[in-house]
Amino acid sequence: MNYKINKILNKKNKSKIVCLTAYSKNIAKILDKFCDIILVGDSMANVLYAEKNTHNLTIENTIQHTLSVRRGVKKNLLVVDMPKGTYKNIAMAKKNAKLIISSTKCDAVKIESNSNNFNIIKELASSKIPVMGHIGYTPQFKNKFKIEGDTENEKNKLIKEAIEIEKAGAFSIVLECITSRTAQLITKRLKIPTIGIGASSYCDGQVLVTDDMLGLSGFYPKFVKKFTNLNRIIEKAVKKYSREVRKKKFPSKKNFLNGSKYR
Ligand code: KIV
Repeated sequence: MNYKINKILNKKNKSKIVCLTAYSKNIAKILDKFCDIILVGDSMANVLYAEKNTHNLTIENTIQHTLSVRRGVKKNLLVVDMPKGTYKNIAMAKKNAKLIISSTKCDAVKIESNSNNFNIIKELASSKIPVMGHIGYTPQFKNKFKIEGDTENEKNKLIKEAIEIEKAGAFSIVLECITSRTAQLITKRLKIPTIGIGASSYCDGQVLVTDDMLGLSGFYPKFVKKFTNLNRIIEKAVKKYSREVRKKKFPSKKNFLNGSKYR
């Protein structure tokens, strides 16, 4: 098994797993210093392409962004979301997962659960393709946002689903927008690590969409903590640049290119 995956598995019950999303090299390079997992999430459809959901993201787009991210990642486990419609059946899932891994050299793929695609995880895992599962609010299969796991029925269904995904061979599982008690029960029950987003601190690790936690996306539901306000910081810098260009303060003599030195 990939030693990076072993490292993640070994963190269960020992130390928290830190995961964030990246869609490009510069951000990935920063995340790589502080995280354990970098996810090229299909959230890029909303965050970068201003789509209303993740449904139209293509595999070509995903590969293109992962190639950029790959260049910024040295230490982290690099996981890539398989876009909607690219794992409808076993043959398609295998072909596309292999394509993503061979063309980007990522370490693993993530697939969302529709409560019924455990056989796909099983086939990928037995073909030595590391898979991260994803349950709860799964945007590829649900049109409306809903917190999951609040009723007894939902709780039991999610626990069963998580167990099936572990049995199928996934090495970890994202729990998205799941009530704290249900997330706690799933985390206790599974041997593989759970990575939560809006699923409380009981999970083995946490993931957020980087643009959200940096205050860049404008999307701040209760489960997102804005760790900085990059919007305001960028606005300030751009405003200063614009003022200096208009006032002919930039470029100044020290920015002129005379002779052969450009640094
Ligand atoms: O697409 C994504 O960014 C994700 C995370 C929110 C887990 O799936």
